[in-house]
Amino acid sequence: MTRIKIFDTTLRDGEQSPGVNLNKSEKLEIAKQLEKLGVDVIEAGFPAASVGDFEAVKLIADTIKDSTVTALARCVKSDIDRAWSALKDTKNPRIHVFLATSPIHMEHKLKMNEDEVIETSVECVAYAKEKFKEIEWSAEDATRSDLDFLVRIITKVIDAGATVINLPDTVGFTTPEEYGAMFKYISENVPNIEKVELSTHCHNDLGLAVANTLAGIENGATQIEVSMNGIGERAGNAALEEVAVLLHIRKDFYPYHTRAVLKEIKRTSDLVSNLSGMQVQRNKAVIGQNAHSHESGIHQDGVLKNRETYEIITPELVGVTDANTIFIGKHSGSHAFKEKIAEFNMSLSDEESKAAFKAFKKITDVKKDVTDDDIYAILMEIKSES
Ligand code: KIV
Ligand code: ZN
Repeated sequence: MTRIKIFDTTLRDGEQSPGVNLNKSEKLEIAKQLEKLGVDVIEAGFPAASVGDFEAVKLIADTIKDSTVTALARCVKSDIDRAWSALKDTKNPRIHVFLATSPIHMEHKLKMNEDEVIETSVECVAYAKEKFKEIEWSAEDATRSDLDFLVRIITKVIDAGATVINLPDTVGFTTPEEYGAMFKYISENVPNIEKVELSTHCHNDLGLAVANTLAGIENGATQIEVSMNGIGERAGNAALEEVAVLLHIRKDFYPYHTRAVLKEIKRTSDLVSNLSGMQVQRNKAVIGQNAHSHESGIHQDGVLKNRETYEIITPELVGVTDANTIFIGKHSGSHAFKEKIAEFNMSLSDEESKAAFKAFKKITDVKKDVTDDDIYAILMEIKSES
């Protein structure tokens, strides 16, 4: 089983979600929870972006013991110096430097040609090497870059001292086949590739971030960059909880494992959601409120007979303690209703049970959320009539 390292970017790319702004004590609280969740690397922020972010990264670097702490820097000496000041006291300081490699970014944003991008990257990695042992270099917009240019630049930044090479799908443009093929090509054509770790970083613009991450893993990536609840720029990043649970649930098929403590997922998800203000959609995979609820009568009947009929992820696995497993609503059947009314400890004859079920079905046609109080009222009425 190959070990996959989780690099969490909730506090950096996640904080780049429009409308999200975390102060340093909020960031520290999330970082401590990420450490409990067992993430290998915490990207704490972008120290050159603001004084507040510098202070947050420093506080996290000085506090966290069981995860590597890293911070983002442009390929600019002053950014690298700032990151070093924030990170120098942590156990394994890692810098994460990046430069764009796609024609559209090089021409319009950087106004540099390929040789200049190579030279700048090599210089910045060599400069970072004077301070940091661990250097991650990212080819921003890798998935829209020329593969042979990527081979040339990656070979050079490894020679300059990079220890991790990250190939981001910056704009969420790629597909699993293409993303996997890129990792394969890089692994087979960069002569010094065995000196480094390869990393994925997938955005979710086309809803493929998790699938692309998996394709990267299958083609040689041993680090995955993900965020809690999938928050991040635009449509977000690959969701940590989805990849970690996927690798656990389908270990029959995928020979990979992470060090994630899955029962900490719910607590981490709630914390990130509360502090960031980014609500988790109800039907979100793994952690949404509906992810562990069954409404249709057929499904409920199956689950009541054997949970595994319709449940591949138990709420307990991801630390959900208050799952509304059997959702009593319009589509519920008599089996689930019987289980529900048993909670009220009232003895009902068969006739009364049937009448209660009929009254319940009538209410579901006009009310979306049938509450325990509604059911109690039905039962009281049936009892008073008999
Ligand atoms: O999406 C991206 O390319 C990034 C880089 C800074 C790694 O977030
Ligand atoms: Zn990103």
